[in-house]
Amino acid sequence: METVLSGIRSTGNLHLGNYFGAVRNFVKMQHDYKCFFFIADYHSLTTHPTPSDLHGNVKQVLCEYLAAGIDPEAATIYIQSDVPEIPELYLLLNMIAYVGELSKTTSFKEKVRKQPENVNAGLLTYPVLMAADILIHKANKVPVGKDQEPHLEITRKFAKRFNTKYNVEYFPIPETFNFGHELIKIPGLDGTGKMGKSENNGIFLSDEVKTIEKKVMQAVTDSGPTLMNSEMPETIKNIFTILDIVSAPDTVTYFKEKYNTCQIRYGDLKKQLAKDIIATVDPIREKINEYASNPDYLRKIANMGKEKARSSASKTIKEVREIIGFKQF
Ligand code: TRP
Repeated sequence: METVLSGIRSTGNLHLGNYFGAVRNFVKMQHDYKCFFFIADYHSLTTHPTPSDLHGNVKQVLCEYLAAGIDPEAATIYIQSDVPEIPELYLLLNMIAYVGELSKTTSFKEKVRKQPENVNAGLLTYPVLMAADILIHKANKVPVGKDQEPHLEITRKFAKRFNTKYNVEYFPIPETFNFGHELIKIPGLDGTGKMGKSENNGIFLSDEVKTIEKKVMQAVTDSGPTLMNSEMPETIKNIFTILDIVSAPDTVTYFKEKYNTCQIRYGDLKKQLAKDIIATVDPIREKINEYASNPDYLRKIANMGKEKARSSASKTIKEVREIIGFKQF
C-alpha cells in the first residue's frame, strides 16, 4: 500500500478553503492508503505564536481534523513536535541542501519582501523541514494545494540527491496528489484572491451560524449585470465558485440563469449561499466543540498518533544513519 502524507500548519482556525482544498480529500484517502496526517507546529513558529497560543492552535487543528472525519484508527494523526526523528532528519537533510536553491524558493522570496526585518534561518530552511516531514515516512503521495508545489519539487530534489550521493534507492520520489482534477482554489469573500487564514476574508469551520450569515451578506458584489450573458467580474465569479462547491447543481443553474438574464438579486443569492455553507459547516462546528471539551479523548488520540508516527519515523532514521555511516561503538 502506498503511503500518503500531508500536514497543516497550526496558525489559526481552518477555513472552507482548507476543508474543501485539503481535509476533505484526506478523509477520502484514509481507507485506501497508509495515511499520515499531522499538525505542523514547528512550521507554525515562523509566524511567532505566543507560548499560550501555540498549544491552543494545535488543539484546534486536532479537533478540526477529527470533526471533519479523519478516523484516527484508519489514519495516523500526530503532532510534528511529538516526533523528534523529524528534526533529526531535518538536520541531516540540511547537509545536502544548498543555500542558493533555498533562497530562490518563491515562499522565501516573498517573506524577504514582506518582512525584511525578520529573515530568519528557519524561513530559509522551511522547505528542508517540510522535506523531512515527507521523507521521514517515505511518503509516495502528498495531497497539497498548488502553492506547495515548489516545496514538493525541493523535496524530490533532496530525495534524489540523497539516493545519488549514497548510491542507494532509499527514498521514494514523492508526488503531489490531487484526485486527477484541477485543484480547487477557494476564493475569499472580499472580491479578490484566495481564502486565507490571515486575509480576514474567510469562513471558518468554527464559525457560528450568525457569523457565517453576516460574512456572506457582506461579501463584495457590484450593481449587477446590464447586458444579457455578460462575463462575470471576479467578485461575482468568486461567489459562484463557492456556490458550486456547497450547493446543489440545480441551485447553481438557477442563479446562473438569473445572472445571464440580468434578473439576479444578490440578496437572494447570498441568502442561499449562506444557507448551504451553514449546512456544511454547522455539523462540523458542533463536532469541533464536542472534541474540544473532551481533553481525555484528545490526549488518547495524540498519544496513539505519536506512537504510530514514531515507530515509522525511528525505522527511517535508523536506516538513514546507517546509510550515512554512523556506527555504534
Ligand atoms: N507547508 C505546508 C503549508 O503551509 C504545511 C506542511 C508542512 C506540509 N510540512 C508538510 C504539507 C509536509 C505537506 C507535507 O500548507
